[in-house]
Amino acid sequence: MSLLPLLNERFAAALAQVGAADAQPLVQAAGRPEFGDYQMNGVMGAAKALKRNPRELAQQVIDAVALQGIAASLEIAGPGFINIKLADAFLAERVETALQDAHLGVPQLPRQTVMVEYSSVNLAKEMHIGHLRGGIIGDALARIQAFVGQDVIRQNHVGDWGTQFGMLVAYMVESSKTGNAALELGDLDSFYKKSKVRFDEDPAFADTAREYVVKLQGGDPEVLALWKQFVSVSMTHCNAIYQKLGLLLTDADVRGESFYNDDLPVLVEALRAQGLLSESDGAQVVFLEEFRNKEGDPAAFIVQKQGGGYLYATTDLGAIRFRAGELKLDRCLYVVDARQALHFQQLFTVARRAGFAPAGMQLEHIAHGTIMGADGKPLKTRSGDTVKLGDLLDEAEERAFKLVSDKNPELDEASRRAIAATVGIGALKYADLSKNRGTDYIFDWDAMLSFEGNTAPYMQYAYTRTQGIFRKVTDWNETTPIQLNEANEHSLALELARFGDVVHQVARDSQPHFLCAYLYSVATAFSRFYEACPVLQDGQVNVSRLKLCRLTGKVMATGLDLLGIKVLETM
Ligand code: ARG
Repeated sequence: MSLLPLLNERFAAALAQVGAADAQPLVQAAGRPEFGDYQMNGVMGAAKALKRNPRELAQQVIDAVALQGIAASLEIAGPGFINIKLADAFLAERVETALQDAHLGVPQLPRQTVMVEYSSVNLAKEMHIGHLRGGIIGDALARIQAFVGQDVIRQNHVGDWGTQFGMLVAYMVESSKTGNAALELGDLDSFYKKSKVRFDEDPAFADTAREYVVKLQGGDPEVLALWKQFVSVSMTHCNAIYQKLGLLLTDADVRGESFYNDDLPVLVEALRAQGLLSESDGAQVVFLEEFRNKEGDPAAFIVQKQGGGYLYATTDLGAIRFRAGELKLDRCLYVVDARQALHFQQLFTVARRAGFAPAGMQLEHIAHGTIMGADGKPLKTRSGDTVKLGDLLDEAEERAFKLVSDKNPELDEASRRAIAATVGIGALKYADLSKNRGTDYIFDWDAMLSFEGNTAPYMQYAYTRTQGIFRKVTDWNETTPIQLNEANEHSLALELARFGDVVHQVARDSQPHFLCAYLYSVATAFSRFYEACPVLQDGQVNVSRLKLCRLTGKVMATGLDLLGIKVLETM
């Protein structure tokens, strides 16, 4: 069991003993070191419910709680908080066990099938800055769920269907007549722009495009073959970005909107049969009483347009049916821009009402904010264009290369390039993950590439320090036990023993910035420890401290890996 659940369990039992069985123990990591290692905040609520004096009740809880051998001291503070200091011997045993454990002391959670849907780009265009956050956050969440023992299904719900694909296919046919379609496809954005120009300027072209949409939806083999060719070129471009960014996504994770095409009429009929459909301006809609507009009218969730066409929302209903019926998910995380929040609220409501998503299947919109420029508006290039993801990643590596070259001019270029890729991409990802995902943030190259503060370069450098010592000490007796005698040893061990608490919190709430904040506190605790507590002195190795270094390195490398960030042995 991780530390938090262990302490909560013991305090819940103590509360029950003093007549407050319903009260929540509310244990949390201490806000400040002077409050101890953990604090128990549940007494005030319990005292209020029982109409008792909180400090008196706190004393009774302390007398009742079974923490012998776990806590070194329990103290009442303020109106009735209980400050908990863990025993050195107990912490030493926890870190010792963690060091031997493949999961570093992080318990596995009850096994569930969890989908993390992320990236989900529209294939008509090139990937741009708007795809960065979802990709990075989704990938971290998928890694974390797997680490705590979940059956993870990564899903890339790409936009590969709809009217624009008729236009693109029409342009493929047209440009292949002039002989350079393949070449033109190399630049997706300009291909899209040119086909849009043709669509807008030439009614005959537009008619052909619309005809292709119908043929595509009807499964016409020739049009389908052209469409597949387009999708494959576009996916190749995405895969190159995923690889450079170090995302786990592969072709096996792609299940695009087109996949649900055949189910759309079926599900609309299912809604109709249940009496959930109404007609509104010729469209088929589900009215949602719980979402009213300013005029007090219920929202209309459109599932079929006038004329019979289906929409993004219809496809999402199809996806839920598949995920519930075929994949039997316990939990589905949609890592998508916060601006789609209303869509997801309504989608989930309709899916529940129609029985497409059973009550036991958790549906969560993991919303993320937007990346802003220094002007506080969504980040653009200097000329005001959308920032292409490929260009951004190149720039990250280029900037890191300059930095690395300044620091290590004596290294050969290939090594500097390799380090720069790890540092540059790491910096970009860490800068994103360390922010609260729900809010916007301002993009800042200098801040993310700084070697100080809560940044990837700082963390990566801190990791190399934990490893440096093992190049000096090779021969040591692993069976020598860990002993915590000094305050800095205790603080570091406490941080290391908290890994499970933090990973479980992120697995539950999908907020990776808590893992970043945690790793940063591990790094700072290590730094203080390393300065105050010599590992090597007068040719003698302090094995207990060496083992703390080893676990620190493992926790940092594993924690960063859960965020999708690589480490280096030297830099
Ligand atoms: N392709 C969509 C877009 O770019 C995002 C899809 C999100 N996922 C979903 N199931 N709706 O806006």
